[in-house]
Amino acid sequence: MNPTLTNAWKELAQHAREWSGRHLRDVFNADPNRAQRYVAEACGIQLDYSKHRINDRSLQLLQGLAEETGVRSRRDAMFAGEKINNTEKRAVLHIALRNRGSSPILVDGQDVMPGVRKVLEHMSAFAERVRGGAWTGRGGQPITDIVNIGIGGSDLGPLMVCEALKPYGHERLRMHFVSNVDGAQIHQTLRKLDPNTTLFIIASKTFTTIETLTNAHTARDWFLASGATEADIARHFVAVSTNTPAVTKFGIAAENMFEFWDWVGGRYSLWSAIGLPIMLYIGPQHFTALLDGAYAMDQHFRSAPFERNLPVLMGLIGVWYANFLGSPSLVIAPYNQNLHRLPAYLQQLDMESNGKGVRADGAKVDYATGPIIWGEPGINGQHAYFQLLHQGTHLIPLDFILALKQQDLDPKHHAILIASCFAQAAALMRGKTGDEVRAELDKAGTTGERTELLIKHKTFEGNRPSSMLLLETLDPLHLGALIALYEHKIFVQGAVWGINSYDQWGVELGKQLASGIENALTGDGGALDYDASTQRLIALAKERVNLKR
Ligand code: F6P
Repeated sequence: MNPTLTNAWKELAQHAREWSGRHLRDVFNADPNRAQRYVAEACGIQLDYSKHRINDRSLQLLQGLAEETGVRSRRDAMFAGEKINNTEKRAVLHIALRNRGSSPILVDGQDVMPGVRKVLEHMSAFAERVRGGAWTGRGGQPITDIVNIGIGGSDLGPLMVCEALKPYGHERLRMHFVSNVDGAQIHQTLRKLDPNTTLFIIASKTFTTIETLTNAHTARDWFLASGATEADIARHFVAVSTNTPAVTKFGIAAENMFEFWDWVGGRYSLWSAIGLPIMLYIGPQHFTALLDGAYAMDQHFRSAPFERNLPVLMGLIGVWYANFLGSPSLVIAPYNQNLHRLPAYLQQLDMESNGKGVRADGAKVDYATGPIIWGEPGINGQHAYFQLLHQGTHLIPLDFILALKQQDLDPKHHAILIASCFAQAAALMRGKTGDEVRAELDKAGTTGERTELLIKHKTFEGNRPSSMLLLETLDPLHLGALIALYEHKIFVQGAVWGINSYDQWGVELGKQLASGIENALTGDGGALDYDASTQRLIALAKERVNLKR
């Protein structure tokens, strides 16, 4: 449905006008309980949303919008295995991958749970053998290095989680992730490795992705060039895919393939066999805890009332900024070094899901949809992009993410980290008035014109909103819950906007054109099908560099 036709949308548009000129500083002053009231908690994650430009009326209207746009029934349809990915006619069941309940989940009348459990058992048995040293390379030595070759959802999830859970990693196993078709990445990685103790995971849902297959063939050539035989491939190459024929054609035996299903979207797949590198690294027990955390968040999303439902609150607050306060962007600022790939992971998760201009029913939207997601670990960001957030001309909300506890915690470092995180959120919200700057300058002895100039530059407008997400600790359980929280936040927004969050047609055109351009670059043929600019670039590249297939 078109959300702009709902009563709630119209009332929200009206209500948004009440917020122009209102400062969060005054909102806090007027409500001594605000900091306590605008906090929700689930699965060891606390969401403090008090520093947002919202009040009880805003929240009530936003929840009304969720009701009117059918978020509740769409959520139930997803959990029931209905084919809510209508353009690809697929169910959307990453929730089945971490389902700890005993009820069946049906797709086309078939319970998917036995298959899910079977693959998890296959993964665990394999992971135990590799981790324990029983699975050896061709010379009989245990595996020391694991290279995941995949891209997008077949790379970012496992990479992000392995980084986040480094303290839980196996001491013998070194993890490597190769995604880019730029040969520099695979060659620089291979240079460090011993073919006799390296295990490659070729991860591709479709097993047709050119970047992954090119890197996989380069890895196999490197392996065979070391003196290994075709028969040795079975000990050094495994695959994760939905495409058994293509995996077999590549030369990987069926017993070394870990299966998943078309109802798992690539960017939602780290819970599936795509999570194999994670399980190898942190072990089946911790991997299970990751699933448990996600399952707990699934249960919360399914059952908590909207006013205390974390994904619903975060999703609706995002809709408020995107559609009523004119903010197109969201910064992800984890104050945690091990979460340094979280912004990139969430960028794909959100932007590939909700970067859509057409509703599921085919109608063109005339309202903003998915936000531009970006970020870097917050503490580094403070010394880089935060200037624009504090004093730039755009309204850009932030998600601050902070673990109160973690492995490798150094209390002295952690105090500075936490203080910086809280200070940035406070500074963005309250700002600094001209009078405050003047008082500081007076105290420092600055006078005259210089004072007047500096007041202009040193004043912080403030009124810049943010969420504070506090994790009890950064461990597999809480990380699982955090990731699932974002998955469901994206779901809520997609449901409000009436879009299909689970296809990604927008990535296809560039792929189609690339294959024709590659032919033009490596063959004798011209490139007449392309625009003049692209033709010029092709001619230039052909003239300057010797390219081959
Ligand atoms: O091109 C985009 C995309 O299809 C993503 O959605 C996906 O995660 C990625 O490519 C990798 O796809 P595959 O796992 O099929 O290689």
